[in-house]
Amino acid sequence: MKRIGILTGGGDAPGLNAAIRAVVKTSMGIYGNQVYGIRRGYEGILQEDGVFPMDYGTVRGILPQGGTILGAASGGNPFSIEVEEDGETVTRDRSGEVVDRIADLGLDIIVVIGGDGTLAIARGLIEKGAPIIGIPKTIDNDVEGTEMTIGFDTAVGMATYALDRLHTTAEAHHRAMVLELMGRYAGFITLMSGVSGGADVILIPEIPFKYEVICQKINDRVKRGANFSLLAVSEGARPEGGQMIYQNGDTGGAQPRLGGIGDAVSDHIQAHCGVESRVTVLGHLQRGGSPTAYDRWLASQFGAIAAHLADDGKAGRMVALRGGVVTDVELSETFIQAKEVDVDGAGVETARGLGICLGDRYDYQRE
Ligand code: F6P
Repeated sequence: MKRIGILTGGGDAPGLNAAIRAVVKTSMGIYGNQVYGIRRGYEGILQEDGVFPMDYGTVRGILPQGGTILGAASGGNPFSIEVEEDGETVTRDRSGEVVDRIADLGLDIIVVIGGDGTLAIARGLIEKGAPIIGIPKTIDNDVEGTEMTIGFDTAVGMATYALDRLHTTAEAHHRAMVLELMGRYAGFITLMSGVSGGADVILIPEIPFKYEVICQKINDRVKRGANFSLLAVSEGARPEGGQMIYQNGDTGGAQPRLGGIGDAVSDHIQAHCGVESRVTVLGHLQRGGSPTAYDRWLASQFGAIAAHLADDGKAGRMVALRGGVVTDVELSETFIQAKEVDVDGAGVETARGLGICLGDRYDYQRE
């Protein structure tokens, strides 16, 4: 019987519980292996109450639940962990302790469910000898090596739902409606929901935009009798030659918080395009709540494959979706850089073909 640890790191994403459930049920049901839940990300490995045995009872009824029953930890990087020493908060490298503690706990392998940050830490721990398997999750879908991450589909669904609702009020008031969406430095959520929700303008980090092009598009729509416009804007979008906007001007830390470009675009439209404009920031509604059926399906498959890999002792692998098939890849090969939208790819081409303005140029549509 193998002893398998499981943790969720970084921010939550809808579908995490489906993946945890699949690891537990497949490990127990097929192999008779014992799974141990690790609370609050990597930190739980070092904490007294951080590791607990899981069974069918601990995962019963969690499939439709958002969040994570194991608890998420956005900080908690063991290579640079905050500790209290003599009344002061200092950062220390406790990665060696994590590796030792995994051995002390008698865990044969750890399944780490995380985004780029959590999986990059996993790679560092693997280099130090920790036996880890990765499962990619993040609403941003920016993990290289996999076509899809857990949580992305739910986020796109929420963003599309928001665009549908903004559409009717935009039309009623003859306004421009700007929807600012998450995704950090990748525009996958914005591009996919923008196309699905009928946005007239889509601004993504991969394609710097020009304000005058946005006005051109909006004004051309007015001339054609369409007195409203829908704009889907990534939090990481930026004008040509300009910078991304961070909340409270915060550019420090490992994960500075983006936000504010929606306001900037909306203010510009109101001031320079002669159209009334409003902005909505969808924020964490994209991450919270029940996962879609697809996210549950993907997470269940990812979890099941991870359970097989764990039984096989295949440390250093990451479960992935490639060519529409769930498989596994070398974890270390997935971090050359974060995955971005291919600006020459089919998604962008589809958007342009539909007459959607990507902000870099305005292609007049034939009537
Ligand atoms: O990586 C997921 C994500 O939701 C990003 O899209 C967003 O920029 C960030 O996390 C928000 O982080 P937090 O929950 O810490 O505000």
